[in-house]
Amino acid sequence: MVSCKSVYEPREDSTMLETWVKKYAKGRVLDVGTGSGIQAIAAAQSNNVKSVLATDVQKEVIDYCKKCVKNKKIRFLQSDLFKRIKGKFDTIIFNPPYLPQDLQLKDLTIEGGKKGYEVIEQFLSEASNFLNPNGLILMVFSSLTKKEKVEEFIKNNIFDFEELEKQHIFFEDIYFYLLRKNELLKKLENEKITNVKYLTKGHRGLLYIGLYKNKKIAVKTKNPKSTAFGRIENEAKWLKILNKHKIGPKLLLIDKDYFVYDYIGGNFIIDYIKKSNKNNIKKIIKKIFNQLFVLDKLKIDKEEMHRPLKHIIMSKNKPFLIDFERSRYSPNPKNVTQFCQFLINSRLNQILKSKKMHINKQKIINLAKVYKNNKNKVNLDKILKQI
Ligand SMILES: C[S@@+](CC[C@H](N)C(=O)[O-])C[C@H]1O[C@@H](n2cnc3c(N)ncnc32)[C@H](O)[C@@H]1O
Repeated sequence: MVSCKSVYEPREDSTMLETWVKKYAKGRVLDVGTGSGIQAIAAAQSNNVKSVLATDVQKEVIDYCKKCVKNKKIRFLQSDLFKRIKGKFDTIIFNPPYLPQDLQLKDLTIEGGKKGYEVIEQFLSEASNFLNPNGLILMVFSSLTKKEKVEEFIKNNIFDFEELEKQHIFFEDIYFYLLRKNELLKKLENEKITNVKYLTKGHRGLLYIGLYKNKKIAVKTKNPKSTAFGRIENEAKWLKILNKHKIGPKLLLIDKDYFVYDYIGGNFIIDYIKKSNKNNIKKIIKKIFNQLFVLDKLKIDKEEMHRPLKHIIMSKNKPFLIDFERSRYSPNPKNVTQFCQFLINSRLNQILKSKKMHINKQKIINLAKVYKNNKNKVNLDKILKQI
């Protein structure tokens, strides 16, 4: 037998994972970080498995496997995670290096980065692109890797998981997890949306980002913790209406559980104002007022325009109103008047003063009252003249 010091000699984690591989491996299998080839061999022995691609970042490991493992179902390839991998698999196996580097061992077979979870994080951020819709991932990690972190990465990449087994060995707990694509991820991928990642959550919605037709997009779904009813449909409905008036990010797809729109990258309004000069600020404020006037005319109340801190994004010198979850038809919409309130609030006023922009609070209040009683262009223009 050829020996090689770069090869991870199978330990308890390997033999326990091997049992799960025998039970679950199916179809086309990818064994990432194959080491001695133990998982690849176990998979190849299963009648449910058609072929196995076994990879490792270390060339010596692949050379070793090519010499020592003779199995027609298995092909070996040197690859750093998915870098040289093509196609999709039904099963992906990964017994990663998962120990923190503070041990200073400089050993690729067991160290998974500074904190121990970096290799797993990278693996999970790419895995869905290489996994068939009903595929599964068998993965190992340890309590030394930080379970909460690993679970966060799993959720951020929109996988569901199941703990198959937990074993206490010497000074650590070892976890064996089975991951599958979440239904949302499958649906989005079915629509040709790739690289889907969790971005953030609001009270009612969860926001993801992804790629669609080579463009960055955002996906909004219901926050399962929210009891609010019909918000997703509501927001998609408003976007559809407002897009016709060139307001809001462009709506791309609608489903009952989610909608997809152009991702707007840029600064929130306050950050933009802080960074910009007087002339640009004036132009932008006027553009926002004009959009809000359209909303008033359509009798749509967007709500929250008196503190629109996270509701207006500046992108390529264009203001985008976002978040229409609470929008509603109203006989008396308050978009323009609420934005007047925002303009005269003391925090914003301080910032504007530092840009040598002085807004006459009393005049704005008076003009907002006039506008409120008669929402027409003439009255809007009177407000704009004060900016
Ligand atoms: C803990 S060993 C597991 C070996 C074997 N699969 C087993 O279950 O015994 C981790 C393996 O992952 C490999 N590895 C480390 N970083 C990798 C990376 N970025 N891409 C692919 N393989 C990697 C190491 O060379 C090592 O062979």
